[in-house]
Amino acid sequence: MSYKHLILEKKDAVATIKIHRPEALNALNKDVLTELTVVVKELEKDTNVKAVILTGEGKAFIAGADIKQMKDMTMLEAKQFAEQGHQLLSMIEQSRLPYIAAVNGYALGGGCEVMMACDIILASAQAKIGQPETNLGIHPGFGGTQRLPRLVGITKAKELLLTGDPIDAHEALRIGLINKVVEPEKLLTEAEALAQKLTQKSGIQTSFIKALVNKGINIDLPSACSLEIASFSSCFATEDQKEGMSAFLEKRKPSFKEK
Ligand code: CAA
Repeated sequence: MSYKHLILEKKDAVATIKIHRPEALNALNKDVLTELTVVVKELEKDTNVKAVILTGEGKAFIAGADIKQMKDMTMLEAKQFAEQGHQLLSMIEQSRLPYIAAVNGYALGGGCEVMMACDIILASAQAKIGQPETNLGIHPGFGGTQRLPRLVGITKAKELLLTGDPIDAHEALRIGLINKVVEPEKLLTEAEALAQKLTQKSGIQTSFIKALVNKGINIDLPSACSLEIASFSSCFATEDQKEGMSAFLEKRKPSFKEK
């Protein structure tokens, strides 16, 4: 399928989605959200793909939800828009695939929210990250009030949400919001190297680990630990477990078959 606002590239087992709406700093309108939903579903089914990079064209990763489109929304339209955003971000979070956000510039509002739904976040030293919605007379609608405190703690999350002030990539790293700061010209190369590394892992384990962390963080510890026990035991029904352990004992690299 061809996209109006996205560029999709595949190299080996890595897919790169670039949001391409530079005239509006890659702001998320309904069409962009729809295209992202379609591409995420497409990649989920593509068994040749084992890792995904999400990035933006130009000076922004995503400058937020589209303010022009939101300005005259009714309450019902705003609800449907927020639901559309939440659905997309849940799909990314619950995907079998590891998503790497390569944050090339502004990641504000909905952009910060998309970034937070990804599994590993690399940010250019030029990135500016934040939740400025309060300055528009609204609050985040794609999960910002929920994922931000889970990632950085309530104290810092409230500061960012209440002031609306953006932070730079180094501060984002310091508070645990992102994984690494990268020089702008090296961002995509680093993201690709990381993605290639992830494609060498067992995809079954990648999806198990994502599910355990994402589910476990939202429930009590004893229940979460029970989930881990059940999931751990099911690893032993896979060929990848036999291969991984045999390879270790035979002092060779494993060759996982996703079975
Ligand atoms: N929606 C729609 N259009 C946007 C946009 C957005 N979120 N962000 C930027 N644009 C547009 C601008 O209107 C401008 O278009 P025109 O040339 O037609 O005027 C174009 O992109 C370039 O933007 P600027 O001229 O403002 O660029 P700048 O370099 O001076 O500033 C910026 C960059 C600081 C990111 C500034 O554009 C900005 O503050 N953008 C809005 C950020 C924001 O408030 N995001 C939150 C949106 S609400 C949200 O996301 C809700 C939610 O949780 C679902």
